[in-house]
Amino acid sequence: MSPKTKSKRTPRNSRSVNDAPTAVTKASRTPDEFERAGRAAEFIFSKTALRPKIALVLGSGLGALADEFSSATKIPYAKIPHFPQSTAIGHAGKLVIGKVGAIPVAGMQGRVHLYEGYSVKEVAFPIRVFARMGVKAVILTNAAGGIKREFVQGRLVAISDHINLQGVNPLSGPNEERFGARFPDMTSAYDRKFREMALGEGKRMGIGMDEGVYAALAGPNYETPAEIGYLREIGADLVGMSTVPEVIAARHSGIRVLGISCVTNAAAGILDQPLRHEEVLDTAERVKDQFIGLLKAIIPRIAEAIA
Ligand code: HPA
Repeated sequence: MSPKTKSKRTPRNSRSVNDAPTAVTKASRTPDEFERAGRAAEFIFSKTALRPKIALVLGSGLGALADEFSSATKIPYAKIPHFPQSTAIGHAGKLVIGKVGAIPVAGMQGRVHLYEGYSVKEVAFPIRVFARMGVKAVILTNAAGGIKREFVQGRLVAISDHINLQGVNPLSGPNEERFGARFPDMTSAYDRKFREMALGEGKRMGIGMDEGVYAALAGPNYETPAEIGYLREIGADLVGMSTVPEVIAARHSGIRVLGISCVTNAAAGILDQPLRHEEVLDTAERVKDQFIGLLKAIIPRIAEAIA
């Protein structure tokens, strides 16, 4: 054993990381994904005494929710072993562990995307870390283009299903049984009960909400009008460049999923005007308070459901 390996102490609370302790990694072998996720989870647990069962991925503009957590510990992604760094505008790149009311939660202020050059496994890695932390439910949020004509700018839509057109899958390669079985069922990838809770809370708050199918493309360009015509034809109501790898990884690990899109713009070719990223950010900003209010209302309901 090298002196470096010998002097490495087991981090505090490491035993509370999900599952069996990470196998001792020989210096000569690079840790596999399960071990890397375990190390990241141990690091996070060494920074806070909270043990969240609910995690949130806060897309464009929504990071502000995590700034409202009480008893918060903020950890820059750069500090977390093996964690990918976000480069997109409007994505802070911090993991915040804190409480919403009495409920411990983990909130990602920003995510990484395929279009930043990350591999699909890197994109899904935070979900693997959540799995190792024992998280049972994830709320994934995003900005999306509205394909369905009723999905006007500013509309919040609970994702009912998705179409993966990113051309890649985080489960490609040898299956990691310690995360989950080879061929995960995706019939109810987006938890029906969670969705009903979201729609119910939305209604109670007077927010007109809908349900819809999200199509994920790799990006980074916005779609062509012909592509949007095709997506409508195959049953998509929303289009975006994120979320799907995370959903696949979450379902593989048995984590229940709620996905909510903010329709930041009409998809390409629907209106007679070009798409601009500023428009996406402006709409996300405009709807932010409503979206955050909705998430705060949903969290206690999800906590009850997974208790
Ligand atoms: N297309 C893809 N991704 C998006 C869009 C869009 O129109 N709006 C926000 N994210």
